[in-house]
Amino acid sequence: MQTRVLPFSDEAIIEAARLILAGEPVAVPTETVYGLAADATNAEAVARIYEAKGRPSFNPLIVHVPDLGTAVGIGQFEPAALRLAEQHWPGPLTLVVPLREGSGIASIATGGLSTIGLRVPPHSAMQALLRAVCRPLAAPSANASGSISPTRAEHVLKSLGGRIPLIVDGGAAERGIESTIVAATGGPLRLLRPGPVEVAASAAPSETIEAPGQLANHYSPSKPLRINATGAAPDEYLIGFGAIEGEASLSVRGDLIEAAARLFDLLHLADASAKPRIAVAAVPDEGLGAAINDRLRRAAA
Ligand code: TXA
Ligand code: MG
Repeated sequence: MQTRVLPFSDEAIIEAARLILAGEPVAVPTETVYGLAADATNAEAVARIYEAKGRPSFNPLIVHVPDLGTAVGIGQFEPAALRLAEQHWPGPLTLVVPLREGSGIASIATGGLSTIGLRVPPHSAMQALLRAVCRPLAAPSANASGSISPTRAEHVLKSLGGRIPLIVDGGAAERGIESTIVAATGGPLRLLRPGPVEVAASAAPSETIEAPGQLANHYSPSKPLRINATGAAPDEYLIGFGAIEGEASLSVRGDLIEAAARLFDLLHLADASAKPRIAVAAVPDEGLGAAINDRLRRAAA
């Protein structure tokens, strides 16, 4: 794949919007670091973010919106969260809040959690793109897994060149450090990641259990789960892959992007089924398969 770099302009945003609406991830500057943005309502588009970054696991992603009005349509803001949003948005603050039912956000964007990290970036390029696509944009930092966060288009090109179609070049990111993350999910506010904005919140271990079967950072089904299954016992809900059919399949054609896109929806489906156990067919441990297996192994542990 040829990676184009276009200086920020109306034409660059039109091209970026076209690619995003076609389900491709695009690198775009924000005031903190460059983000790798994809349509947060399109599960396969979000799966392509993980594929491009070569991330070995599915962390929940920050979802970017143009304004507070859009944010409150996606997440539920308690009064303290609303005050923080009014005080700091647009700006380098991410608020983790309960996800609204029917928000349309793909489950892979939140890692299957019932909460969502939302932020309103002030950068004119990201704002222009959000308004052009009229979609919330999931965007982690635009670097390959394990390398440092990119503050210039050149950093993105070096890290992700050949893996993404377009980088919008908006010059050096002003802040150079990722947004502060605060969770407002009931109880006291919790600081999940320190950053440019200082907020009065207690530093909280991110692995705190927030609900049965749910860690702050990882969704896992509440039922026992077995991996590398070639068939199902009578009390098992089998999630298939490729030739192994199951009651539902991650991907009948063995496509890893499709499998990643469907992973959390199928885990939720299996969890809600009448069967007391879950079995999952083997998924090849290559590319996105490594991230899928990472999540399945955690769920099986
Ligand atoms: O400055 C930034 O925030 C940059 C720019 C591009 O906006 N974005 C960024 O996104 O750093 P990302 O996706 O790499 O941040 C993901 C982190 C997760 O690792 C997790 O710590 C936290 O945000 N997070 C997101 N959603 C969460 C949730 N529902 N519950 C707990 N933590 C969450
Ligand atoms: Mg990062």
